[in-house]
Amino acid sequence: MPVLVELRGVSKHYRRADTGETVVAVEDVSLDVHQGEVLGVIGYSGAGKSTLVRLVNALELPSSGSVTVAGKELTAIPERDRRLARRNIGMIFQQFNLFRSRTIAGNVAYPLKVAGVPKDERDRRVAELLDFVGLLDRAYAYPEQLSGGQKQRVGIARALAASPDLLLADEATSALDPETTSEVLGLLRRVNKELGVTIIVITHEMDAVRQIADRVAVMEQGRVVEVGDVYDVFSAPKTGAAQRFVRTALHDRPSVDTLARLRERHPGRLVTVQITDEAGLQNRIDAVFRSAGVTAELVYGGVGEIRERRIGSLTYELTAGGVAGGVAGAGAGAGAPDAIDRAVASLRADGVTTDEEAAA
Ligand SMILES: Nc1ncnc2c1ncn2[C@@H]1O[C@H](COP(=O)(O)OP(=O)(O)OP(=O)(O)O)[C@@H](O)[C@H]1O
Ligand SMILES: [Mg+2]
Repeated sequence: MPVLVELRGVSKHYRRADTGETVVAVEDVSLDVHQGEVLGVIGYSGAGKSTLVRLVNALELPSSGSVTVAGKELTAIPERDRRLARRNIGMIFQQFNLFRSRTIAGNVAYPLKVAGVPKDERDRRVAELLDFVGLLDRAYAYPEQLSGGQKQRVGIARALAASPDLLLADEATSALDPETTSEVLGLLRRVNKELGVTIIVITHEMDAVRQIADRVAVMEQGRVVEVGDVYDVFSAPKTGAAQRFVRTALHDRPSVDTLARLRERHPGRLVTVQITDEAGLQNRIDAVFRSAGVTAELVYGGVGEIRERRIGSLTYELTAGGVAGGVAGAGAGAGAPDAIDRAVASLRADGVTTDEEAAA
């Protein structure tokens, strides 16, 4: 896929006004954003996400490195040309940033007015955009009369007014409840699929990444520490930061507390198996348990989808000998741990990821 945004060795250092100390906001980031994709950028507060966004649209210039968008090296052209190039980059914000004194239509029309688009063409475009975001009937309402989700839809319409190739969303759903968040993410997905707009979604919520992104970049202390397809990062996060984010979004693994509770009620060995979209996986797992003579009782877990690929985790209580509970009072499975060891070993040998201390 062609590259729309190319960051090469980009760093941004600030000097703190009070102490004179240097703050490293972004450090040596090299990253390609492909045309037509949704890239999620995730990281904790202070990781450098918003700074990265401001560097992509060249509202700030890097301390070192280059930023190229749609073939224009923004870091190498005069500010005048940067202003023009920025029209190709839409932006939406957590606080919507709408003009309170303008109607919904007026807000969406504003960037077109600035760009010198004639009134009749402007009106036509505004109607088209409001229709796309489902707010045509609110054209003459004012922002304060709208809900948060509706305001963000206006923000999206306004950001799309000049038909940009790239849309930057900085914590665009962080002020919204989960249901409204899903609606807005669904709209962004349509912007991507139906209008072909490339989107960079900045967020600290892995759930948002899961719902919308094709790829994800994980930021930590100014650096991109991991980048990959969303499914790959969710199913096999490599860095500690990615692992922590994945746990917040997948609710199929027992927490430490849940695991302790499960242990009280289930004296057999608790083994958590990772479910991927590999065909026939469930059959293979069942066959392993059967041939080892192990009884596997499903006690926790769930299976869902990311980008239409199966992902999940199942926690089993394993007891040996096919007699759940084993000899009464002796501790289930304790009589024949070998069979369970064999079963777990053969799952691992088969490439199935298992975990006995798995806790979210
Ligand atoms: N204009 C500035 N002057 C000085 N330091 C700054 C400036 N902008 C950002 N920083 C610092 O750079 C680091 C990264 O900030 P940034 O806002 O990019 O993080 P973030 O990942 O967007 O965080 P959040 O999730 O809280 O929005 C922080 O330590 C921040 O204090
Ligand atoms: Mg930020």
